[in-house]
Amino acid sequence: MKQSDSTPPPGGGASFLPGPPIDRTRWDGWQRYRSSRDSFVPAQILSSAEYARKSPRQRRIHDLHRLATHSSLPVQATPMSEAVAWLVRTRIEDGAFSHKVGTRTGVMVNGGGAQGKTETVCEALAGFEDEWLMLNQQVNPDAMPGTRDLLAPVAYVRCPVKATPISTCQRILDFYGEDYKGMRLEDLVRTVSTAIVEHATKALVIDDITRLKLHREADQDVLDLIREMMSMPVTLILVGVGIPTSGLLRDGRRDPVTKQWLFPPVKDRGRSPNAHAATQHERRFELIDLDPFSYDTPEQIGAWTAHLRGLESYLRLLNDTDGMLTTAGMPEYLFRRTNGVVGLLEKLIQTGCRHAIQSGGERLTVDVFNQCTVSPTDLPDLDAASGEQPTIPPFAPKPRKKGRNSVFDDDGPAAESAG
Ligand SMILES: Nc1ncnc2c1ncn2[C@@H]1O[C@H](COP(=O)(O)OP(=O)(O)OP(=O)(O)O)[C@@H](O)[C@H]1O
Ligand SMILES: [Mg+2]
Repeated sequence: MKQSDSTPPPGGGASFLPGPPIDRTRWDGWQRYRSSRDSFVPAQILSSAEYARKSPRQRRIHDLHRLATHSSLPVQATPMSEAVAWLVRTRIEDGAFSHKVGTRTGVMVNGGGAQGKTETVCEALAGFEDEWLMLNQQVNPDAMPGTRDLLAPVAYVRCPVKATPISTCQRILDFYGEDYKGMRLEDLVRTVSTAIVEHATKALVIDDITRLKLHREADQDVLDLIREMMSMPVTLILVGVGIPTSGLLRDGRRDPVTKQWLFPPVKDRGRSPNAHAATQHERRFELIDLDPFSYDTPEQIGAWTAHLRGLESYLRLLNDTDGMLTTAGMPEYLFRRTNGVVGLLEKLIQTGCRHAIQSGGERLTVDVFNQCTVSPTDLPDLDAASGEQPTIPPFAPKPRKKGRNSVFDDDGPAAESAG
């Protein structure tokens, strides 16, 4: 599917410049993400001839817009992400529209690093919030106008590296901008619970939950915190790498019929802020895996190729990009390079496009990709200690053929037109 490629970006071509970084873990950042997530306008599609007719300055701007386009490849629906998004959205809606107490089934999204968990869940949440706000006409029926309560149907937080129950609660309160100075864990949990109600939050996502380490002495605090949160009036979405082996499910048991995880209410150890916890029903969780692409059956190969075809339409090279990623053994080659992990594929394509533009070749080929590697430093946001680094298939870049060195030393059209 092609975008509205011929529309020049408004504002004289500079609107593709990113604004200040968006921090989705704060209410205002989340709102910016939600409202701007579909607003990026890709660079125009130009042929070599059209490009050549531009002034050096226009070419430079176009090259930067191409760079922005390749750095903002779309998050596309895949069969795996659709299954996760459907479950997340369904469970949030079940909880949000229910008038009963204690019926919220949570979701745990499990998968390896860079497989799209965060983007899939954020997109599902943003879609829910768009619709919920529309329904509520952007007015919180539970909050008085002019009070300090802001309407936050969705709260998204990430566990910090080496997270503890205290720092996790603090991150949740940071989302709302609530003060927590000097609070002990019990007060923090109580304040989180109050914030969820006051801001009318329907879905709380805790991303990178497996950064919460189960150390022997603090074990029970972590498990208690999660169960405390399960008893709050919100659909809880926990996202992490290796959830089944993390120990987080230790207090739960699997219902053999529904396959859901059942957790008993938190035992009142004399410090529970939730006085009714002991009388509550057990809480249910669905555990869903977000898998990478596979390449065994015709359907799987078809899905991978369709994903590549989608990305292909966002490539802004001066040669027609149709088929550039989907023909001549390319799907199989790219699968071998990435193990079907969307985040690795994205990085490989971005690097390949940069090479293709700098060399002037303006084409993605196996030869170009052979010059590109993806390394853990290309994925800086991941905590290796929490198992978040995906396995990058080993790949030895081929030495450049003699006589071709100059191609890659060439300043290329980008630099040429800059001068
Ligand atoms: N469905 C998709 N289509 C295309 N690109 C995607 C898709 N999902 C994710 N990506 C890209 O892959 C990269 C990794 O995605 P994301 O951060 O969501 O992975 P993750 O599973 O949350 O990783 P981690 O476990 O490290 O947190 C992102 O840069 C994102 O743009
Ligand atoms: Mg993530």
